[in-house]
Amino acid sequence: MVVAIMAPRSGKTSGLAIPAILSAPGPVLLTSNKAANDAFTATVDARAEVGTVWTLDPQQIAHHPREMWWDILADARDLAGAKRLAGHFVSASVDESSGSDFWSTAASNTLGALFLAAASHRRPITDVLAWLATPADRTPVDLLTDAGHDSVAAQLQGTVSGATETRDGIFETARQYASCLLDPDVAAWVTPNEDLPEFKPFAFATSRDTLYLLSKDGGGSASAIIAAAADAVMRAAVIVAERSGGRLDPPALCVLDEAANVCRISDLPDLYSHLGSRGVIPMTILQSYRQGQRCWGEAGMDALYSAATIKIIGSGIDDADFADRLSRQVGDHDVQTTSVSTSEGGKSTSVSMRTERILPPDAIRALPKGKVLLLATGIRVAMLNLRPWYKEPSAKVVGPASARATKAITERALAKTIGHDDFELSA
Ligand SMILES: Nc1ncnc2c1ncn2[C@@H]1O[C@H](COP(=O)(O)OP(=O)(O)OP(=O)(O)O)[C@@H](O)[C@H]1O
Ligand SMILES: [Mg+2]
Repeated sequence: MVVAIMAPRSGKTSGLAIPAILSAPGPVLLTSNKAANDAFTATVDARAEVGTVWTLDPQQIAHHPREMWWDILADARDLAGAKRLAGHFVSASVDESSGSDFWSTAASNTLGALFLAAASHRRPITDVLAWLATPADRTPVDLLTDAGHDSVAAQLQGTVSGATETRDGIFETARQYASCLLDPDVAAWVTPNEDLPEFKPFAFATSRDTLYLLSKDGGGSASAIIAAAADAVMRAAVIVAERSGGRLDPPALCVLDEAANVCRISDLPDLYSHLGSRGVIPMTILQSYRQGQRCWGEAGMDALYSAATIKIIGSGIDDADFADRLSRQVGDHDVQTTSVSTSEGGKSTSVSMRTERILPPDAIRALPKGKVLLLATGIRVAMLNLRPWYKEPSAKVVGPASARATKAITERALAKTIGHDDFELSA
């Protein structure tokens, strides 16, 4: 279980994500907010040779045609799953610190109730959007009662029949959280479609397939969908592992590149403790320790960091506390100092030992690009040279493949704008 913390442009993707994906023996999941000349293009050809490639690109980062769909409501058929799904939409929109005020909590509960109402009757996600638009609609309350979720129904009924200002405020907040789904082109990726293959997390766990989860970051982005999909895949993988002797063999690799930007799974720290013993390898890549704290809170980030059996720290650690903590973990060494003093009786030499930090905080901050600290369970801290994919012999193949895939993205983007212009001209 890996957590990597490295500054922007310091080789996270080229030195960690891509090499890990290229050497993965089993299924691979990648989250990313970049397509061209990044992990997606560098690995897509190689991964297509070993299994099916699934690309979930709701915001058209890679201008990838919609060739699959994933049922976002599949895990929302029980209350816990519905709440978790609502949580992904909240986390994607607000930081951990502001995610627990009245409006957020009420909106999250309402969203969860609506997801549960839709999922328990196999209704599409678009129904949830329709209900969000008309708070007075009683349909979801009735559906929840029908499905035996009486207390959730009562809670939703309470919100719906409460003071109008409060109700509208709650629904407005919920609409903001779910705003990415208002775009039909985005919602289509997670709505059942008979003509396209369905991505199934349980089948994925025992395959050698690859799931690329691409999204922009920031509010209103589709990153909630990305987080929900990554969460569903990791949970399914754990369940499959438990059913088949405890461990996935080969293991599943889940590279959460730009995790704090596009894959804010709020209980990732808890999830970490389940994954390792199950052959599900998470690799969470962050730009700084603080970025993790903003996303999971101080305690959450601490839990995530402690649960990681492999911690990789790269250049550009600006956080003084964190650098000092690392420096202490690297440890001290004894330095021998010799002092010579001259007096009337002649010269005398004394040797003394002094304890010094092996790597003081300022040296950690100034780690050169390509060098990282490795903190792994059971060994002393080590300093490593990263081996980015473009310096490996296989770059002869990967480089051109990445260039081809990048060119294809540009061509798809161009084809779209030209099509658009034609439309505007004829209109
Ligand atoms: N194919 C390549 N050939 C040579 N150098 C490269 C190549 N790809 C990346 N680099 C170098 O590696 C550096 C780090 O790239 P990389 O995308 O891996 O960093 P990152 O930490 O993932 O960045 P970001 O925070 O933007 O995601 C780049 O600044 C670039 O100088
Ligand atoms: Mg990167």
